Amino acid sequence: MVKVNSCVFISGSGSNLKSLIKNSRNHNFPIKINLIISNNTNAYGLKYAKKYNIPYKFYSYKSRNFFERNCLKELKKRKIKFLCLAGFMKLLSKYFIKNFRYKIINIHPSLLPKFKGLNTYNRALKNNEKYTGCTVHHVSPQPDSGNIILKKKIIIYDNDTENSLKKRILKQEHKLYPEAIRCSFR
Ligand code: GAR
Repeated sequence: MVKVNSCVFISGSGSNLKSLIKNSRNHNFPIKINLIISNNTNAYGLKYAKKYNIPYKFYSYKSRNFFERNCLKELKKRKIKFLCLAGFMKLLSKYFIKNFRYKIINIHPSLLPKFKGLNTYNRALKNNEKYTGCTVHHVSPQPDSGNIILKKKIIIYDNDTENSLKKRILKQEHKLYPEAIRCSFR
């Protein structure tokens, strides 16, 4: 199988990155992770780039223009054709998304279109939702709004806290993201 050259964008702990790296090492997984980009020089997830010997870059997002210009240059140089946002907590411009021909996907910790944005666990609890979950979707210029690829629903229990929900959702994310990538190349 010819794998598609891909890059993962992160900002923080990188547990989804770890799961994607592990899956991508499987010979029939459709993407190869050739590059990792972080907007945060202290992102814990960069540890996985080092551990698995994957090239990585840090670009400051103080200016979005600076960040995107450097990313595009590096992505073109490495012939990257597919981007996965995995806990990347910044917005990409319409220009960047278009330039990448909409081949960008993201994972979000709620059942979109519910609870776009931040503090999704807290908002689901406060809203007395019976269920929440996670969603993998195409990235469009409006945040958390592109076409949905896959969702996974989980039950909210009476004794759930923000932390317990986060833990359970993250566990599901690690399965859903690779599955959604497989779906995207079917
Ligand atoms: C994940 O829960 C992901 O869904 C969320 O950040 C976390 C990153 O965890 N992303 C967003 O909220 C994007 N809107 P990780 O760094 O351990 O993969």
